[in-house]
Amino acid sequence: MTQKARNKIIIGNWKMNLRMDEASLYLNKLQKMVKGHYKVDIILGPSIFSLQSLSLQLDRRKFKLAAQNFYWRDMGSYTGEVSIAQLKGIVDYAFVGHSERRHVFNESERDIRAKVQSALRSGIKPILCVGETLIERTNNETKDVLFDQVLSGLANVTSSEIREVIIAYEPVWAIGSGESAKANDVKKAVKLIRKQVAYLYGKKAAEDINVIYGGSINKDNAASYLEIEGIDGLMIGGASLNAYQFSDIIETAYNSIKEEK
Ligand code: PGA
Repeated sequence: MTQKARNKIIIGNWKMNLRMDEASLYLNKLQKMVKGHYKVDIILGPSIFSLQSLSLQLDRRKFKLAAQNFYWRDMGSYTGEVSIAQLKGIVDYAFVGHSERRHVFNESERDIRAKVQSALRSGIKPILCVGETLIERTNNETKDVLFDQVLSGLANVTSSEIREVIIAYEPVWAIGSGESAKANDVKKAVKLIRKQVAYLYGKKAAEDINVIYGGSINKDNAASYLEIEGIDGLMIGGASLNAYQFSDIIETAYNSIKEEK
């Protein structure tokens, strides 16, 4: 695998945290602390509500924005929803199929598939999150779950669109639990994901696609996950709300590129 050719990606998932004024103060702090790094893509996912004001404040040389959620239709009578077409020009990325959307809000594979396509239609890069629950893991079903979620999420994605997709392996049991996955299990999962992308889109697509890990990452364990073969970056929840930790993780990603050279 030509791992060196792929950028590193560090994503901050702020979830339903920070009011608009707090988000603005936090971004201000982060922009001062974080150096922009060639070859490290830093993506921030604030709440939809703060996106527009943060987009005016954002140093786009350092950061890009992601939508945490959206509805898959472009417009129409869908009270309370925001479409990705409405977020065009504000975000470059969108999370799709995050475990909290799948399991707290019961999003179906059909919703997830439609969202991947909707994002691509609007020129937004989908970050497709996949991962097994604790029960599925205990029952040795991780392989099947990943196979199904990748296959279903990518259904109807063309071979030119696959370049725009990022896949995040996020075991459900590792999210927000303080219990991160074992390096060897992550390595196996990523291999499986790439194998499936190769089966669907060919070897080159599997080598080029960015696959990242998420689940209880902090500044102390980030380096060990960035070392795992096939892992191009990290999706960070809790620790992304701490500017010191988040900027430290970004530096770690940058240093991991230097070490690869
Ligand atoms: P966590 O969240 O880092 O708090 O475990 C990760 C995520 O939800 O992507």
